[in-house]
Amino acid sequence: MKLFKRIGVLTSGGDSPGMNAAIRAVVRTGIYKGIDVYGIRHGYQGMIEGDIFQLQATDVANIIQRGGTMLKTARSKEFMTDEGRKIAYEQLCKQGIEGLILIGGDGTFRGAVEFFKQFSIPAIGLPGTIDNDLSGTDFTIGFDTAVNTAVEAIDKIRDTAEAHDRLFIVEVMGRDAGYIALNSGIACGAEDILIPEVMTDIEQVLCKIDYDEKRKKTVHILVVAEGDDFGGANEVLIRVKERFPNLDTRATILGHIQRGGSPSYADRVLASRLGYAAVNALCEGRNQSMAGMVNQEVVFTPFSQVQKENVLLCGDMLEMIQVLAT
Ligand code: F6P
Repeated sequence: MKLFKRIGVLTSGGDSPGMNAAIRAVVRTGIYKGIDVYGIRHGYQGMIEGDIFQLQATDVANIIQRGGTMLKTARSKEFMTDEGRKIAYEQLCKQGIEGLILIGGDGTFRGAVEFFKQFSIPAIGLPGTIDNDLSGTDFTIGFDTAVNTAVEAIDKIRDTAEAHDRLFIVEVMGRDAGYIALNSGIACGAEDILIPEVMTDIEQVLCKIDYDEKRKKTVHILVVAEGDDFGGANEVLIRVKERFPNLDTRATILGHIQRGGSPSYADRVLASRLGYAAVNALCEGRNQSMAGMVNQEVVFTPFSQVQKENVLLCGDMLEMIQVLAT
């Protein structure tokens, strides 16, 4: 058992719904264990700037239901340099921070790996990103909410598509992974789903539209992942308009709407369980590992082994999508 007097917590990279619930769990578990918990604003950038302040249990009241992050976040270019990381370490020493909880995505863990090559301070990570693109956890904090947000938006778009007999191409986030597209597409009954993990055959996509047109299926929703190999919604739109100039076609890019909003119950529970486990793990002497949830159990993966992970297509999922969209 390691005794900590003072630990720091930060959120880094793109914000994701549930980060606040994770901060709350970290702060309250730390205080319960007699540890002073300090918030670091703006992720690694705040570490460099020494933007560090003490958090009381009441400071994290009324945040479990809020999107964004009360600690603010950033993607720090300075932290990618040896000099930046050195200043960050000096700031931690100056403030007496003896352990860290890092909440973020793959950039956060890549930064951590570089930092710990140079400096030694116990740290545990939590997977916080809407993209769900990390190994070592079934789900990342924020993914469930982001998919629900996309589903709600696409359902609304379907109403308009139906009313006007229109074809809609909807682009969702996910960087270079297709988790949000695949899951929101299935949940909305999309006619086609384009994800980076499956090479897009645009001819096949156009043939399907043609087939649906001929059999008078007037509503067509195509969900495209922003990282698809063919391109995003605008690229697909050009090809659809070229081939079907008489079709009423629109492209919608959902964008950052998917990052905000009140976290779903699933993200709140995931964030609470992982935040609680992370502080306990730190006290048990675990170090430089990310806490993830696999089959409902908390597991730890060394930062160096946390990989960017793309969609693993199980069984006949692609065939299922085509069959259900007929
Ligand atoms: O990683 C989360 C994410 O929202 C990605 O899905 C997206 O590609 C990227 O961040 C957008 O980043 P920014 O907010 O910096 O434009």
